[in-house]
Amino acid sequence: MTLPKHVRLVEMGPRDGLQNEPGPVIATAVKTELIERLATAGLSHIEAASFVSPKWVPQMGDAAEVMAGIERRPGVRYSVLTPNLRGFENALAAGVDEVAVFAAASESFSQKNINCSIAESLERFRPVMEAARKEGIAVRGYVSTVIDCPYEGSISPGQVAVVARDLAALGCHEISLGDTIGTGTPLKAKRMLEAVAREVPMERLAAHFHDTYGQALANLYAVMEEGIAVIDASVAGLGGCPYARGASGNVATEDVLYMLNGLGIETGVDLEKLVDAGAWITCQLKRRNGSKVGQALAGPDNGNVQKRKSHDQD
Ligand code: HMG
Ligand code: MG
Repeated sequence: MTLPKHVRLVEMGPRDGLQNEPGPVIATAVKTELIERLATAGLSHIEAASFVSPKWVPQMGDAAEVMAGIERRPGVRYSVLTPNLRGFENALAAGVDEVAVFAAASESFSQKNINCSIAESLERFRPVMEAARKEGIAVRGYVSTVIDCPYEGSISPGQVAVVARDLAALGCHEISLGDTIGTGTPLKAKRMLEAVAREVPMERLAAHFHDTYGQALANLYAVMEEGIAVIDASVAGLGGCPYARGASGNVATEDVLYMLNGLGIETGVDLEKLVDAGAWITCQLKRRNGSKVGQALAGPDNGNVQKRKSHDQD
């Protein structure tokens, strides 16, 4: 068992992080500034928005304006969610670098999230994949509820493997495995991954763990031991899923980065700048910073990042 030398962090804050934010729709300018701050911190893959129905997810209703408003940084991949061909066409017009389709391992979650069965969702993705292929746009695939479903309970690793295999067969270059409600523990995460890796090569898999039960870092360590080297995370632990009540955000990017730095694993991301971005967005949203590392390094006034260097990192 060896850990990876390099991990690609896929930043979820602007999409998974903000999609569920209660209250009024967040100003487009706040979203674009967040994305720019994340790129400045060195994140090279940022999920910036969703081209979904604004009736279903009002916070993502300004996806086109967000994409138009960000200053694109060379070397950064700006990706978005596209549930259907209409979403893909709008995303293409907005000049995205990559799109993502999203399926679930649980039928009930699929119905609640995208209003169709798993099989119907895969059929719906087919024209998206074809259009993307023609346009030379890479497509990522998500599988939600890879451990438990909020409506059905435990999900078998075999079910997850089938959906991951189908998404890969459709042409998704990478499959991100979502512990949507964050109930996983390390052994369950490993068993799930083992089953999926029998169908899809490990180098095409990513971990997308929500941190509802505080297990995400432990689960990430466990799956890195198995070969995972792509990790989704959300700055300041922002977020939650609108169709999974009570689920908290993805594991905080700052917390993952601190752990990876401590393990000597390269990411190309600057911890101080990332902590700054986390402190800034939580201040904008008047929200508690969901990152332990963010809280520790930013200090009680949320502004003292420079002074408190990450001197205790190995
Ligand atoms: P539907 O109601 O079955 O489909 O929704 P529809 O085709 O009948 O469309 C309904 C309305 O939406 C229509 O408008 C369409 O025009 C419009 P109306 O005629 O009523 O005025 N519409 C659209 N508008 C803009 N962009 C589009 C689009 N498509 C239809 N692309 C649909 C089906 C998939 C559209 C809907 O269920 C939806 O948008 N769902 C999105 C749900 C979502 O975004 N969930 C959160 C993201 S997934 C997630 O967080 C999990 C993940 O993080 C991994 C994990 O943690 O597990 C990825
Ligand atoms: Mg998610």
